[in-house]
Amino acid sequence: VELDPHTLAPTAVYKLMIGSVVPRPIAWVSSIDAAGVRNLAPFSYFMAIGHEPPSIAFSVGPRGGDTGGGMGKKDTLANVEAMREFVVNVVDDDTAERMNVTSGDYGSEVDEFAVARLTPAPSVKVKVPRVAEAPVNLECRLNQVVVIGKHNLVIGEIVQFHIRDDVYDARTGRLDMHKLRPIGRLAGNLYSHIHQIVEMKRPSDTYIG
Ligand SMILES: Cc1cc2nc3c(=O)[nH]c(=O)nc-3n(C[C@H](O)[C@H](O)[C@H](O)COP(=O)(O)O)c2cc1C
Repeated sequence: VELDPHTLAPTAVYKLMIGSVVPRPIAWVSSIDAAGVRNLAPFSYFMAIGHEPPSIAFSVGPRGGDTGGGMGKKDTLANVEAMREFVVNVVDDDTAERMNVTSGDYGSEVDEFAVARLTPAPSVKVKVPRVAEAPVNLECRLNQVVVIGKHNLVIGEIVQFHIRDDVYDARTGRLDMHKLRPIGRLAGNLYSHIHQIVEMKRPSDTYIG
């Protein structure tokens, strides 16, 4: 089937996007407002940009979805713009259901750490707390917000990594993919567990002409 996004309703385009770009990692973003009220929400429009400087990006859509024009900004975006820092927490099998709880449309006065019974742990370089139960936390400072139509691409620089000891292999400097057990988001309410991992060696790094 051939589909031209310009002829489709935004919701239809959304369905094609989130079904095509799969599985997506989830940035479980903690932030605070100027009064220190905590916020936590998942974003799967999420990617690693590069490591020099170590940079990530996630994208925040309009509050209330495609029909929610005029409802204001999502709390995460408002907090990140005001405080210029946030933490990306990695979602694993154990925290998946609590991540889902934090995606509810709660008012800005609501602390999703409390709602989902998660433990806020102090960060090292930013004031924003991290999720103690997450196996990895990336403390970030805001680089910039790029407006793409109704979406705001939040670009952040990682200023501190927290890796839980059991998922870090000090010998190789790598995270143990068998122990991390991250989840991926598919389309709709579907997710993937990463329990079947395969190895594929790359061709020689020398130029193949
Ligand atoms: C797995 C998952 C991924 C999500 N990804 C996004 C996303 O990439 N962008 C977005 O704007 N909302 C996304 N949402 C919805 C937000 O989490 C939701 O709107 C949340 O209430 C925003 O919270 P806030 O107002 O506290 O920032 C996602 C929800 C779930 C469950």
